[in-house]
Amino acid sequence: MVSLGIDCGTQSTKTLALDWETGEILASAHQPYGFIPNLPPGSMEQHPQDWVTASEQTVLSVLEKLGTRKEEVFAIGVSGQQHGLVLLDAQDKVVRPAKLWCDSSTVFQCAEITEYFGGADRVFSLLGNTLLPAYTAPKILWIRENEPDNWKTTTTVLLPHDYLNFWLTGEKRMEYGDASGTALMDIRSRTWCRPVCDFIAPHLMGKLPPLHSSLKPAGTLREELRIRWGLSHAPSVGSGGGDNMMSAIGTGNLHPGMITASLGTSGTLFAYSTEPVLDPKGEVSAFCDSTDAWLPLVCTMNVTLVTERMRNLFEWSHNLYEENASSVPAGAEGLLLLPYLSGERAPNLPHSTGVLYGITNNNLTKSHLSRAAIEGVTLGLGYGLHRFRELGLTPTEIHLTGGGSKSPLWRQICANIFKTPVVCLQNSESAGLGAAIQAGGLANSSSLKDATVRFVHADESTRTLPTEKESELYQNLLERSYKLRRVLQEGSFL
Ligand code: XUL
Repeated sequence: MVSLGIDCGTQSTKTLALDWETGEILASAHQPYGFIPNLPPGSMEQHPQDWVTASEQTVLSVLEKLGTRKEEVFAIGVSGQQHGLVLLDAQDKVVRPAKLWCDSSTVFQCAEITEYFGGADRVFSLLGNTLLPAYTAPKILWIRENEPDNWKTTTTVLLPHDYLNFWLTGEKRMEYGDASGTALMDIRSRTWCRPVCDFIAPHLMGKLPPLHSSLKPAGTLREELRIRWGLSHAPSVGSGGGDNMMSAIGTGNLHPGMITASLGTSGTLFAYSTEPVLDPKGEVSAFCDSTDAWLPLVCTMNVTLVTERMRNLFEWSHNLYEENASSVPAGAEGLLLLPYLSGERAPNLPHSTGVLYGITNNNLTKSHLSRAAIEGVTLGLGYGLHRFRELGLTPTEIHLTGGGSKSPLWRQICANIFKTPVVCLQNSESAGLGAAIQAGGLANSSSLKDATVRFVHADESTRTLPTEKESELYQNLLERSYKLRRVLQEGSFL
């Protein structure tokens, strides 16, 4: 028996095939794509058709690699970049390109919605979240205000993974996990929030698909695709979810105390909770997960984006970067980076810029800069973890994923800044794996928790414990970076 996981990300789509008996990844394929070029500053868009093409091509490639075992495919699951806005017309054609999670052109619309309801506290009491430019709600208002004709022809609003589920099954619906990132849903009752929907657009409620439990499959593969893919039985299509929700399953993050930290271009930190975790400051996003529980999350825009910029600037290999950054003591001898190269989301400073503080004759070296970059971006996530603790979450172990987690130095810095043991997983494709596990589990009614115990394994060779002296140093640095940010923010420098 084989379950497929399709991970539709911002840079590429990857598909993998999971052997449901052994947990082995039997085959995988990936196809990259880019953003639509030459858009105004802040706009980040992609053509949903690129996701469909990449999904189909990677599925076909995986099926080919499976050979005769392709007949064993019994389930398919989709993980998608969160928050993206896909608009369909009455003929189910895409109305315009999708505005993505990293699009920050909607700052004004966030302010408009917040003001209408009388402030962030009131929005928080309606939704369980405050508004961020990343979320879907302000993108819809942006379309209504800037492209009224496009809004008029829109009959359906979907998220990226919902659109792929629609392509796979012909069914339009949303499950709680990804829907919680729209800022149109009250995340406590898991129902659409009528006052917010009605303000954004009078007929929006009628354009939203029905909400469903994440534990209900989306449907079965459409006949046309089954025939084109040469399958004799139509596999079940799981409910799927947002990439962080799927990565929670793929990193075995289905227990209180577990945290996943993803060190990719941007970074996320998320936990599992059986209750909604609400942050009145709005720094922690109160999301639902895709197993009908909750998933508090912090997202920072600048992680390997910053270290990769530095590495390319110095024309170093990854090994050389590691060697240089390791040659400098913890704290980079006073060099501190606020790494807001792409603005920032937590804290909510979409138009901020990076700040390098504490430069001396001694520390203005490539090695110090490279260490300060790793430390600065990890302190950003460290602030998120500090907020998790303030909201009552107690981390016991952190599962690391993403490119940055390959570096032993970075893992040690994480353990020390987070003051928690960290470990990578044997399978680093956590979102695709999570989608395959969820789809397989829903198709044969097995427990998702049991499935993660069978299929998700730590790579013990990467387990890293905090060291006392450096942890202490980083707690001071965390406070300093927070104060520096506050002072600059209050002076309108960020
Ligand atoms: C989380 C978020 C990002 C995207 C990346 O809220 O916006 O992590 O999901 O695809």
